[in-house]
Amino acid sequence: MSIKSEKVKKRIVSGIQPTGNLHIGNYLGAVKNWVELHENYDAFFMIVDLHAITLDQNPEKLRKKTLEIAKIFIASGINPDKATIFVQSDVKAHCELAWILNCTTAKMSDLKKMTQFKDKSLKGGTDNAGVGLFDYPVLQVADILLYDTELVPVGEDQVQHIELARTLGRRFNSKFSETFVIPEHSVTKEGKRIMGLDDSTKKMSKSAKSKYNYIALLDDEKTIRKKVMKAVTDSKNGITYEDDRPALKNLINIYKLLSNKSISEIEIKYKGRGFGDFKKDLADIIVEFAIPLQERINSISDDEILEILDKGAKKANLIAEKKILEVRKKIGFLR
Ligand code: TYM
Repeated sequence: MSIKSEKVKKRIVSGIQPTGNLHIGNYLGAVKNWVELHENYDAFFMIVDLHAITLDQNPEKLRKKTLEIAKIFIASGINPDKATIFVQSDVKAHCELAWILNCTTAKMSDLKKMTQFKDKSLKGGTDNAGVGLFDYPVLQVADILLYDTELVPVGEDQVQHIELARTLGRRFNSKFSETFVIPEHSVTKEGKRIMGLDDSTKKMSKSAKSKYNYIALLDDEKTIRKKVMKAVTDSKNGITYEDDRPALKNLINIYKLLSNKSISEIEIKYKGRGFGDFKKDLADIIVEFAIPLQERINSISDDEILEILDKGAKKANLIAEKKILEVRKKIGFLR
């Protein structure tokens, strides 16, 4: 074996909440990138159930969604023999490190800046929001720092949380000596922010009020076609990729990412043609991606997934336990 092939791979860590319907935004912004990266990195992908309970969850649905997301990872092409797939709450060190960071490094002012808290607490006002929701980013920082993570592949909405991981990691290192690797984020050019199909000023979201905002990975063919045909466009003519046509730009991004055609190839293909033709083909492309994915998801049994998650939790625990012991010693715990 050459020295090069013995080199330890860089570590990537990322996660998804088992809430709502996973949509093509989650896939194009995160999972698709993971599938590509996990071949060359030491990859850890988690289903973040501890984050999910920062908002009310139905226990039965939460269990179902947790298994469903793990199936989506596998069906999308993540090889469980290459990547570690696990459930966050199976690794107790995540909560412990979050608490330690709460007390030693995180400031109220850090968390008050977080836009996700502002967005999610909007309805009931910040005073009525759960403490867990406010503290959510610190738990995410723990998810990342526990594994000596070098790269965190996410959509653009998560970049602020990765910046916080860098800030808290640095603060801890300077207070208690070098302990954590300081991570970088990785976002993809066209996939980092897939916008809502009904409103191109807001990102596609699992918690959107209208189902016409997103295409869920588990939507059936008829629903996919209907949603694509209903997607908002604009009053200009032609299929062109321009900043002042955000709704169309978003549809072209989705087209590009699922067809692997370049943007200029798409513009040329639709020269002199209208939205109708373009949308019909886009719907075909999404259907051709989603229906086989659903077939693969349905072919995976709960038992198979539980076995993968058990194996993943064991591997994640080995690393996380070692790191939390180091942290406990540094802050002065006896053992
Ligand atoms: P979550 O569950 O909201 O989203 C999962 C991933 O999907 C990306 N994403 C999008 N990308 C492009 N366009 C969109 N419209 C879109 N919507 C969502 C998200 O950026 C994310 O990458 N806090 C995280 C989960 C988390 C995590 C972590 C991530 C917990 N611990 C540690 C990385 C590392 C979240 O709520 O993702």
